Amino acid sequence: MSKKTTVYVCQQCGATSPGYLGKCPACSSWQSMVETIEPRAAKTVPGGFRSTAQPVRLNDVSLAKSERLLTRIGEFDRVLGGGLVPGSLALIGGDPGIGKSTIVLQAAAEVATEASPVLYTTGEESIQQIRLRADRLGLASKNIVLLAESDLGSVLEAAERLEPSLLIVDSIQTAVAPELESTAGSVGQVRECAARIIQWAKPRQLPVIIVGHVTKEGAIAGPRVLEHMVDTVLYLEGERFQQFRILRAVKNRFGSTDEVGVFEMTGAGLSEVENPSQTFLQQRVLNAPGSVVTVTIEGSRPILVEMQALTSPTVYGLPKRSANGLDTGRLQLLVAVLQKRLGVTLGTQDIFANVVGGLRINEPGSDLAAALAIVSSFRDTNFDPATVALGEIGLSGEIRSVGQLDRRLAEASRLGFSRALVPKHGAIAGQSTNGMKVVPVSTLAEAVRAAFSKG
Ligand code: TYD
Ligand code: MG
Repeated sequence: MSKKTTVYVCQQCGATSPGYLGKCPACSSWQSMVETIEPRAAKTVPGGFRSTAQPVRLNDVSLAKSERLLTRIGEFDRVLGGGLVPGSLALIGGDPGIGKSTIVLQAAAEVATEASPVLYTTGEESIQQIRLRADRLGLASKNIVLLAESDLGSVLEAAERLEPSLLIVDSIQTAVAPELESTAGSVGQVRECAARIIQWAKPRQLPVIIVGHVTKEGAIAGPRVLEHMVDTVLYLEGERFQQFRILRAVKNRFGSTDEVGVFEMTGAGLSEVENPSQTFLQQRVLNAPGSVVTVTIEGSRPILVEMQALTSPTVYGLPKRSANGLDTGRLQLLVAVLQKRLGVTLGTQDIFANVVGGLRINEPGSDLAAALAIVSSFRDTNFDPATVALGEIGLSGEIRSVGQLDRRLAEASRLGFSRALVPKHGAIAGQSTNGMKVVPVSTLAEAVRAAFSKG
């Protein structure tokens, strides 16, 4: 009979117990016991390095660049910081059905060559399902080796034999280390499996992509430690029923986390969007009330997006405030400022705000555009379609400066906009930048006047 080699360790205080307990007997915290391989049995060294490591002077560290493995999907490589680093682990997270399996399969097809295959292991789908997806994507003939297996030992064994140029594990929540009693997807399993993949891949200098699910709260399912363990964490985001997807790096040990990749989900998989501003504005209806264009900075790129708002009298009960692509709390704040500082009577209006195209905007620089879109819809008056609006709105109705104004204006000018409402602070009055007429405004009231007074 094999001896049990796992223990449950409290994540709060470190107390151990041979079996699962809902409440830690030492510190009384709930649900904190996680199954772990007993240190004696595991004999692992953090990071997989053995005692051969020697201290080296900073100046003596050799900088021989390791060759990165390119996925040859331009937007993907850029977000990775120039391709996959040998021996590194990249985690791709995202909601179910967002396109994680699609993008890794497309990357696999680009990486796989006659000489070195890509090993794609899946615990989620059958290999027939993946074949069907590959056919849809037109990738059938590529040298991709499939393995439908959730036992991590077998996965690594297969990888050991095949010596692929890239290993893909889809997904980490379905991988199991059989020594642990807990079920697949549990904190203990996810952490142990990730640790084993890292230990295996580092000395072999093999890049690994693992797919991870995201919980309702928006974090990668399983422990937070997973994000700490891997080298790169990417999120694939977007609205499932809209065509655009954003690939964003939230952690990258080998590059900046400033880059985003923009993709479009088409009938033949994800295709790169080379000119996001143009694409996001494609279906814009000119001269419609409630529409204002702003320039947001996504990563290091300025992108033009259309903010839409609709106000309509509340028929019953409390007025509704609903935001899509921007924070509802932010929308409520803008509405409060409009009511209090400008006397706009929005108290009996339902208000809906939307960022067209499925982009999520987190930066406050789009405040002014959102507020003007609300005013535009409320007054049923068009906002000039050749003008962009930039600025953060403060609680007293002041317009605060935004970063990288020049780059934002240059992008707006490139797409044919000729006038910009910008924060007074940092802007030079009346000066035209890149052929743009710059209208500096210091308060929301001024901005509304500049936007909607004729002549
Ligand atoms: P998938 O990659 O399976 O998502 P995930 O692995 O993140 O769960 O993508 C599933 C969705 O993508 C599905 O709703 C269908 C859609 N899709 C397309 O629109 N076009 C395509 O070419 C493919 C392969 C998928
Ligand atoms: Mg999938």
